[in-house]
Amino acid sequence: MHLMKILALESSCDETAAAVVEDGRKILSSVVASQVEEHKLYGGVVPEIASRRHCEAVVPVTQKALEDANLTLADVDAIGVTYAPGLIGALLVGVNFAKGLAMASGKPLVPVHHLRGHVAANYLTSPELTPPFLCLVVSGGHTHIVQVADYTKITVLGQTRDDAAGEAFDKAARAMGMPYPGGIELDETAEGGDEKAFHLPRPHVDGSLYDFSFSGLKTAVINLIHNADQRGETLSIPDLAASYRCAVVDCLECNFVRAAEDTGAKTLVLAGGVSANRLLRRRLTHTCAERGWGFFCPALPLCGDNAAMIGSQAYYEFLAGHTAGNDLNARSEMPM
Ligand code: KG4
Ligand code: ZN
Repeated sequence: MHLMKILALESSCDETAAAVVEDGRKILSSVVASQVEEHKLYGGVVPEIASRRHCEAVVPVTQKALEDANLTLADVDAIGVTYAPGLIGALLVGVNFAKGLAMASGKPLVPVHHLRGHVAANYLTSPELTPPFLCLVVSGGHTHIVQVADYTKITVLGQTRDDAAGEAFDKAARAMGMPYPGGIELDETAEGGDEKAFHLPRPHVDGSLYDFSFSGLKTAVINLIHNADQRGETLSIPDLAASYRCAVVDCLECNFVRAAEDTGAKTLVLAGGVSANRLLRRRLTHTCAERGWGFFCPALPLCGDNAAMIGSQAYYEFLAGHTAGNDLNARSEMPM
């Protein structure tokens, strides 16, 4: 039986990535070139620098992905690429290069939504996972609760009204003196702190059960630090990080569990960079075990941006007939 090999590219933010994935489930190779050390100097991703670095990295990263899989372009069956959402100049590099590869090889071109890719990271980690399930997609730019009825049938139930969960972690981490992107360091630091040390709000969005709002929480922690500074006091950063992380995770878990109860979902799944968060994983592991729900999250190397997840989702998009012509364009915004 012929297994479908997809060469996939990802360049939506500050990682240039290429991978080869077989039948949506098996990683034959996965290469990620991160630019994070350069963007750290500026406290965030600088879009023009990101585009230029993608332009330099896209060819060697793709060559390495093919080499690691012991394949040439002629051996792959399709080209998958992230086309939305993300930084437009960054996306354009991957999209245009993928179009070139598809044209040169005569293989089909499969456009993939970045957040659908994050969901698909779970198909690579857990062979037994199949839709339907409920998924909490938490990344640097997005926070969505989605119903995955089938691989390509996805409905958004709720989303953030302001900051994304990853953004909320990064901004609070910055206020605590941690370098960009501070989410991981905040998480590590919180492991050694007392989550009850500081009282922080658990903001709700009026009129919506599943939407999120994190900007008030972020402001509360910035005010705590500012007021302590003015009094000449120093706060315990581990305690502050633990209290903040607990508040964010409380908000995420509350709406996610409510959505599961309301929809009767029996399988809960995490996706996106913030799915690496230790407390979020522990909480949902525990809550789902208690209620007899299935719980899945991506292996740690697949939580952040990578192309293997794009190759997985591309397989299911291809099966659904979602291929693109040579007029494919990138989009900075696009509903899931
Ligand atoms: O999905 P991702 O790699 O890129 C986007 O598509 O945005 O997500 C990156 C985000 C960053 O905000 C980063 O700080 C956050 O995920 N993140 C974490 C953790 N690891 C990564 N946030 C909290 N705890 C973590 N362990
Ligand atoms: Zn991402």
